[in-house]
Amino acid sequence: MAPIPVVGRGAPGKPLLEIEGLHIAFGARDRWFEAVRGVDLRIHAGEVVGVVGESGSGKSLTALAIMRLLPRGARISSGRMRFAGTDLLALDERGMNRLRGSAMGMIFQDPLTALNPALPVGHQIADSIRTHQGLGRAAALARAEALLDLVGIARPRERLRAFPHELSGGMRQRVMTALAVANDPRLLIADEPTTALDVTVQAQVMAMLDRIRRELGIAVLFISHNLELVAEVCDRVAVMYAGRVVEGAVVEALFEAPRHPYTRQLLRCIPRLNDETGPMPTIPGLPPRLGAIPGGCPFAPRCDAAFARCTAEAPDIWRRGDHMARCWEALR
Ligand SMILES: Nc1ncnc2c1ncn2[C@@H]1O[C@H](COP(=O)(O)OP(=O)(O)O)[C@@H](O)[C@H]1O
Ligand SMILES: [Mg+2]
Repeated sequence: MAPIPVVGRGAPGKPLLEIEGLHIAFGARDRWFEAVRGVDLRIHAGEVVGVVGESGSGKSLTALAIMRLLPRGARISSGRMRFAGTDLLALDERGMNRLRGSAMGMIFQDPLTALNPALPVGHQIADSIRTHQGLGRAAALARAEALLDLVGIARPRERLRAFPHELSGGMRQRVMTALAVANDPRLLIADEPTTALDVTVQAQVMAMLDRIRRELGIAVLFISHNLELVAEVCDRVAVMYAGRVVEGAVVEALFEAPRHPYTRQLLRCIPRLNDETGPMPTIPGLPPRLGAIPGGCPFAPRCDAAFARCTAEAPDIWRRGDHMARCWEALR
């Protein structure tokens, strides 16, 4: 009899990952703050979905919640998350461990948090392959070598023996990617993977990510505060502000006809759309602090299009096809 798969393939047309009403709270005893306040997100097989927003908007927490790797003191207070037909919130730790590093892989801004400093990179990749696929040592090392080649590392056989600290930041990012895709994931979560790199290396790593996701046909959740990067690689984009998705659309619609004033202001901050001689514009003001999120629309205090209703009432959702925005101005 065939073994029962941990993760079903899911019916065609159904999203690979479906998040509904995700809330994440921080705190202790009687003081809880919601950092993620009702996120909805869908990713279909093979699709690249971007999540953008300023620092503190809840992007990383959303990603960590999918992997069930939230920091201490944080918990999912409500919501639903389904991945390939599996209820992620119903899985026990053993089930989640089987998913992490196999059906789902994740890469971060800082590869040193994912890589073991005391082990050669080839061994780390081979260990993961042996754990999840049950290959022998030699076969796992051969596969690790092929993976290093896939992520664009020259002389991969030699590099198997390198320790993380012997590699440059861009190289480590490639190794972490090799580790994340070692067991044929269906979803790769990339949380600001190039933010710590200089612009040239950033472009090389982005090109590598784009190539491996085409070759492997995997879905990617690409998180960035940089709307320009997101535009280059994503099919669809979700814009987050103060713990919510405030606009969602296919990338062309978001750029050509943004409906949320926050998205419009983010777009104005992209350097190449501006006069190159002037200072780079930023959005005036700051996002609200946790525990001090204003009622009504949380962006209203910084919004150049806000009117009385915006500070009084949480906005309804404007929708045209698969383009949505939480904004009273869009609904006018
Ligand atoms: N470990 C933590 N302890 C307390 N608060 C946290 C922690 N991590 C995140 N937060 C809170 O949650 C908010 C959202 O965090 P995060 O998801 O990391 O934002 P982003 O990735 O969009 O920059 C932060 O602004 C912060 O207030
Ligand atoms: Mg983050």
